[in-house]
Parts: sequence; C-alpha cells; structure tokens
Amino acid sequence: MVIIMITDKDKQWIEETVEKIKEKMAWVSEKSRDKIPYTTVNGTHDTYNDSDKSYRMSEGLNWWTNGFWGGMLWLMYQETGEEKYAEYARISEKRLDQCFADFYGIHHDAGFMWLLTAVADYRLTKNPEAKKRGLYAANLLAGRFNSVGKFIRAWNDWGNGEDNTGWAIIDCMMNIPLLYWASDETKDPRFSHIALMHADTAMAHFIRPDGSCEHIVEFDSKTGEKVRTHGGQGYENGSSWTRGQAWALYGFTLSYIHMKKEEYLNAAKRVAHYFIANIPESGLIPIDFRQPGEDAWEDSCAAAIAACGLIEIAKAVGKYEKDLYLSAALKMLKALTEKRSDWTKDCDCIIQNCSEAYHTNKHMNIIYGDYFFMEAIYKLKGNDILLW
Ligand code: GLY
Repeated sequence: MVIIMITDKDKQWIEETVEKIKEKMAWVSEKSRDKIPYTTVNGTHDTYNDSDKSYRMSEGLNWWTNGFWGGMLWLMYQETGEEKYAEYARISEKRLDQCFADFYGIHHDAGFMWLLTAVADYRLTKNPEAKKRGLYAANLLAGRFNSVGKFIRAWNDWGNGEDNTGWAIIDCMMNIPLLYWASDETKDPRFSHIALMHADTAMAHFIRPDGSCEHIVEFDSKTGEKVRTHGGQGYENGSSWTRGQAWALYGFTLSYIHMKKEEYLNAAKRVAHYFIANIPESGLIPIDFRQPGEDAWEDSCAAAIAACGLIEIAKAVGKYEKDLYLSAALKMLKALTEKRSDWTKDCDCIIQNCSEAYHTNKHMNIIYGDYFFMEAIYKLKGNDILLW
C-alpha cells in the first residue's frame, strides 16, 4: 500500500466522508440486500430497466453494471471487516451465475461484472467457488479477442443487421484487468498476452494526439484495418465523452500497475493532462468536454472514475509530479461531496447527476457513481484494495 501525502484538513475531510459512507451503507445494504441496483426510482434502488434498449448492449442480469453493487459491499467488507457485507455481496455473485448459463448475453463487460463480485470475493476470502467464476469469466473475455486486429470485440450481435464484429470501445481497458488476474492465478501468460495486445491497439487507435480519446473504434474484423470511429455515448463523433476519457485514464493506469509497462503510464498521463486541463472551475465534470458551450449537463461518474485513476497515477510518479494528479482528484471529489452527494435516507444512492450518455438519460443516480466515489475515498484513506 502506498500512502499519499495530504494535508491535515484534507485528512479530516476524508475521515468525515468515510464515516458518512459507513452510516449510509449500513442501512442501504440492509434495504437493498436482495437487489442488484442500477439506479433509483423515487429515491429507492431499482434494477436496470429491461425495456430501455437504447444501448442495445445487453439486458436483464447481463447488464454491464451488475457487478458494482457487489463491489461496494466488498469495499465495505474491507473497510469494516463485518461479515454481513460478504454475505450480501455473495447474493449478487451467485445470481450472476445465470449469465454463464444463458451465455449469449455476456459481452466484453465480463470484467466489470466479475472483477467486482467473484474475483473480489476470491481476493478477500480465497473462496474457491469465486475463483472458478472469475476464471470462467476470464475465458469468456479472452474468447472475444480478434487476433488479426488485436482487439477485444465489445458487444455481441444486436440482431438489427448492423455488423459490429469489429467494434472495440475504450471502456474495455477496465475489463482487461480480469485477464491480468487470470494469468497471475493460473501462471499461464495467455490471458495477459491478450490484454497487452488489446491495450497496445487501444493506445495506437483510441488516444488522439491532444490526449483526448475515441469512444468507439470500428475495425474490419476480417483484415484488422481501422475503418472509422463512432461518437458512442458522447456528444458526437470526434467529441470527448468524459466517462470514456476517464475509462482510458484509469484503464491505462491499471495496465501499468499490472504489467509495469512504462508506455501505459505515459498514455494514462497524456489522457490525464488533457482531462485536468479541462476540469471546470466548479470541479463538476460535463458529460462531454466538447458539448455545446451553454449546456450544463454533468456526469458525476466521470469525475469519480477519473479521480480513482489520478490517485493511482499520483502513487506511481515521482514526488514533484504527484501534486498535479492528486490535487485534481481532490478538487473533483470535494465538488462531489459538497454539491452532488445525498447522505439522507431520502435516496438510496449517494452521488447525484450521473448520466448514461449525452443523448439518453441524464442527471440520475447510477450505481457506479457511488462505487467509484467510495473507491476513491478509500484510496485516499489508504485502506483500499485494488479490485481491478
Ligand atoms: N461501459 C459503458 C458506460 O460507461 O456507460
């Protein structure tokens, strides 16, 4: 564990925030123990609304965010040592077994889903059943690799005639740590070979010269040639979807942490510099850094994810550089605690103003806003466990 240097005033703010998280999670975990929450409806946790197919990505239990609630409970287990959090976390871990049985709904998001549930369980308790689930998920993710284009395919066939066999997305940088874990566990480098090749492709084709990133890159799945980019969840093609920038920032940092390849840290820093240069005075992050000037749509999730990545970069760099990354992370996290947190019993989620995408549902609660906020605060406290 690397302790980061912060001021006494910041330490007090972190301690107070940790206490607020503990208080909130104590009652929310009881209330939502049998759910796998995605958002809230009238303040109450609700699962992913199956009828909304706007993303055409996946549905039902296969929804890509279904690991985050388990992840929050494992973070609480790590923080408090209370057995009830492990018990509740295993409820969603076991429910996700249905996805293995159904098979067709599993996309590249196997990392998001099983790193924070089964693999977290295994990391923290050495549960052998959990290890098996993690390895199964890793094999499914590895099976999505296109060896000609050297990328992991994002989504399955949407059934609408559109050929997405060559689509890769920046979010996948957060899924490939499942492959690093599988190689560590099995002592078989096949998994990390795939992860490294995907990361190299992402570094070459997703990060633009100014440090901003593409969301979706389409390759020819037969020849591996890059065909075009798509705007995805951002404002438009060529714009700068902040959550995508955050996935890149944190994702390349994670590849560096696991594989110690300096190029990945440099890639993460390049994205971080662009991100930091664009943080508004308020510390609140827009959905897209290139959305129209007059519009104030925010995505608090992007702030929390980027903060996690920035804190990890701060741990990895020399003493003269640390402050750049750490102060940006603190600015965003303080903006979230001061302006976008709900600690009351009126809402099951903490973080407000999360947005699915620029052109779909905005300013709502989304479970991974809470997950990454908690992860960032525990990182600052120094009691974190890297679940990625
Ligand atoms: N991974 C999909 C998203 O960030 O919305």
